[in-house]
Amino acid sequence: MNTLTIRCPAKLNLFLEILGRRPDGYHELSSVMAPVSLYDTLTLREAKRFTLEVDGPPLAGTNTVEKAWTAVARRRKIPGVRARLVKGVPAGSGMGGGSSDAAAMIEGLDRLFDLGLDRHEVAAEIGSDVNFFLERGPALCTGRGEKVAPIASGPDLHAVILWPGFSLSTAAVYGRVREFLTRTPRPVIDFLNSFIREGPQGLAAALFNRLESAAFALHPELAALRTRLAELLPNGARMTGSGSALYGLCASEAEARRLARRVHREFAGFVAPARVLGREVAWRSRKSGSS
Ligand code: C5P
Repeated sequence: MNTLTIRCPAKLNLFLEILGRRPDGYHELSSVMAPVSLYDTLTLREAKRFTLEVDGPPLAGTNTVEKAWTAVARRRKIPGVRARLVKGVPAGSGMGGGSSDAAAMIEGLDRLFDLGLDRHEVAAEIGSDVNFFLERGPALCTGRGEKVAPIASGPDLHAVILWPGFSLSTAAVYGRVREFLTRTPRPVIDFLNSFIREGPQGLAAALFNRLESAAFALHPELAALRTRLAELLPNGARMTGSGSALYGLCASEAEARRLARRVHREFAGFVAPARVLGREVAWRSRKSGSS
């Protein structure tokens, strides 16, 4: 029986602007996302039917791995898999753990059963961020987030990530964003120019997330946390996605580790140093066994 182990990285939104509300209720985005070295791990083993075991706190709603299974099984006749998901990325944190798990499931099933899937077509059905995780590197994401254009990375980046221990609902944060939209959205081009050239210090001023105001309106304590985190880190702090995780950029792994310890001393909870992953990093998967 073949077994496949796939690492599912988290992501950070380094730039996120909202261009407007769409007729379908979603929002038109212009966002730069990058994978980071914080992972869930998905293991798939061929089986007679589908089962999923999750090692981590129980999540509300149907797991995205199961949604991906259902979407693939609707397109192809496949026997089953025993799926085991080990969570390392906090859920409801804006780091895309669930979307990354779904992307890994689509890729894993495609490889395990040699299905020749249009992976992007399946991904778009499951969630707005799933397509990004099929790309394995930084990308400009547009549409509702599902249109993904890979971008080249610049100098090495590291981050300190703080998850304050509570989750935000993506729909609730988007539901509040209208009052914070401006007539002239911030253009992404300035960010892209900085991203290719600048280290963390130069890039810091270009980091942006329109959803912060909405999330902070829902959870004022998150704004206070960001202010304090920005005092502890050398290059400020931002929220990723629809929150609630916050991050700040650093220049090296050693600096990220040192600062993560300092942040952890003050906040406790989930604090992690992470590397921003470029396209060259092989982080995907390992196949073993024989059929
Ligand atoms: O696509 P996904 O299931 O991740 O989105 C969750 C919710 O976030 C949507 O139901 C919608 O309310 C909101 N959303 C949005 N615009 C986007 C992405 C998500 O309004 N581009």
